[in-house]
Amino acid sequence: MTIEGGATDDRVTLADAYALVTPDDSRALYARWAATYESDFVGSTGYMIPDRVAEEFADVAGVLDGPVLDVGCGTGLVAFALVRDTAGEGVDWVIDGVDISPQMLAESGRKRRPEGTPLYRRLLEVDLTTDLSLRSDLLDARYAGIVSAGTFTHGHLGPESLSALIQLGRPGAIFAIGINAEHFQSRGFAECLHDEVERGRIRNLAPCIVEMYRPGSEHEGEQAVVAIFRRA
Ligand SMILES: C[S@@+](CC[C@H](N)C(=O)[O-])C[C@H]1O[C@@H](n2cnc3c(N)ncnc32)[C@H](O)[C@@H]1O
Repeated sequence: MTIEGGATDDRVTLADAYALVTPDDSRALYARWAATYESDFVGSTGYMIPDRVAEEFADVAGVLDGPVLDVGCGTGLVAFALVRDTAGEGVDWVIDGVDISPQMLAESGRKRRPEGTPLYRRLLEVDLTTDLSLRSDLLDARYAGIVSAGTFTHGHLGPESLSALIQLGRPGAIFAIGINAEHFQSRGFAECLHDEVERGRIRNLAPCIVEMYRPGSEHEGEQAVVAIFRRA
């Protein structure tokens, strides 16, 4: 997929991911990327937005009395960071994950907590561009927290999918949604979020800007907005 010096190889790159257009494109790309996503992409680029989203979420959430949904969970990095970074704080996170890619879900299904139990309670194959009001399996969970990293970005999900997510949180649910900063700007996420505040669907909106990659990364300086808010 990558063309370097005229040669074609099979390695998936960030540019390939940003060039996706349809949900079927996502299914096809992540089917190929799942096995090497962490060892190749995450390891070589210093990708750390899952850690940052988990940190921002944990800061606001404290101890929740309900489950958390990881949106576009991929191989499970946000949930892994959340459990790892809050170990010893007396929080027993119950986490479900949704993703369009069965291959990425298979990777997250292999992740374990320190005590050896599965990281996720449930992993569901969901295309987040479809009508979520039909997903009683998600609506009935009444999520107390909703997190996401790397999924609201070029070629993936837009502001309409963020609006649709609100219904999955119960009243007062805390959201920490990482959004690629360029995508945030170009797709009008600020307007979308302010509109949701005006309509009374969300409150306590507090966006913050974070680095997506570690210092020294070829992507150093690329940023994300983490939109923190509560469902009204
Ligand atoms: C860059 S990965 C991020 C994965 C993980 N959250 C992380 O930070 O490592 C983006 C994820 O979004 C998922 N995705 C893309 N389009 C989607 C859609 N329409 N519905 C649900 N998941 C989608 C992909 O399958 C992939 O796992």
